[in-house]
Amino acid sequence: MTTVCGIVGDPVEHSLSPLMHNAAFEALGLDYVYVPFRVARDAVDAAARAVRHMGIRGLNVTVPHKVDIMNHLDWIDPFALSVGAVNTIVNDGGRLSGYNTDAAGFVRGLDAFGIDVTHERVIVLGAGGAARAVVCSLLDRGARVTVLNRNPGRAAQLAEDVGIAAGRGIAHGALTDSSLDKELAACSLLVNATSVGMYPWADESPCPRPYLRSDLVVCDIVYNPPKTQLLRDAASCGAAVITGVEMLVQQGALAFELWTGIPAPVDVMRAVVRTELEDDSE
Ligand code: ATR
Repeated sequence: MTTVCGIVGDPVEHSLSPLMHNAAFEALGLDYVYVPFRVARDAVDAAARAVRHMGIRGLNVTVPHKVDIMNHLDWIDPFALSVGAVNTIVNDGGRLSGYNTDAAGFVRGLDAFGIDVTHERVIVLGAGGAARAVVCSLLDRGARVTVLNRNPGRAAQLAEDVGIAAGRGIAHGALTDSSLDKELAACSLLVNATSVGMYPWADESPCPRPYLRSDLVVCDIVYNPPKTQLLRDAASCGAAVITGVEMLVQQGALAFELWTGIPAPVDVMRAVVRTELEDDSE
C-alpha cells in the first residue's frame, strides 16, 4: 500500500515541498506520495486526529499551525520545544512525534558549506518564527548571537525567551543603519530571517551594501528569488553566500529521513527546487 505524507497549512498551494519530496521518493523507488492539505486555522486538532486514524506517515506543518500543532502531539523533540514550533510530524502507529527541521536544516546548510560557527559572532535579522529557529540552532552550535529587528521589542522578547531556555545571553536591538554598521564590524556571519527581499519585493535588502565585506558569510532564508538583493550585494563584495534554497532543501531532507529512515537524495531535491525557481546560481 502506498505510504502517504503531506503538508498542512493555509495557504499551502504554493509550497515546493510536494515537488521536492515526490522527486525524492521517485528517485529512490519508494512507494510513497506527498500531498498538500489545506487546513484552516481552527481545524488543526481535527487534522491531527485524521493523521492518526488515516495512517498518514508524516506531515510537514507550515503557517499558521507550527505552534498550535504542539498541543495535539504525543511527544515533542526537546530541540523543537526550545524553538517553540514544530514543522515535522512522524506517525508511528497512531503515536505522533513532533520535530523542528527548519532549525536543524539551517545548520546542516552551514555544514554543507563547511562553515563552523562555534564562538563566532553572528547577526540574525528578524524576530519572527523563522528567526527563532535560526537563533536556537546557532546557539546550539556555540555561536554568539545578536538579534536585530525592525520592532526592537520583538527582538528583546526573542532574546529573553530563547536566551533563558538556552541559558545564554543574546544581544538584541533595533534594525537600523547605525546598528548594522556597528554590529557587522564585529561579526563573521549575517543571516537574514526577515521577509525583506521576498518576491515580489525582490529589489529590497535588509542591509545596505556598504556595510558588507568580503570576509563575511551571508545567508538568506528567503528562497524566492534564490539570489536575493542581499545575496547579490554580498556576492558582488566577494562575500560567501548561502541561499534560502539550501535551508529549504535541508529541512526537507531531514523530514524525509525521519519518515523513511533512509538518507535523503539531497542533490535530487536541490535540483528540482532550483529548476522550479529558475535558479542558475552555483
Ligand atoms: P516568520 O514567522 O516567517 O519569521 P513573521 O513572524 O511575520 O514571519 O516575521 C517576519 C519578520 O520580518 C519580522 O522580524 C518582521 O519585523 P517586525 O517584527 O518588525 O514586523 C520582519 N519584516 C517584515 N517586513 C519588514 C520590513 N519591510 N523591514 C524590516 N523588517 C521586516
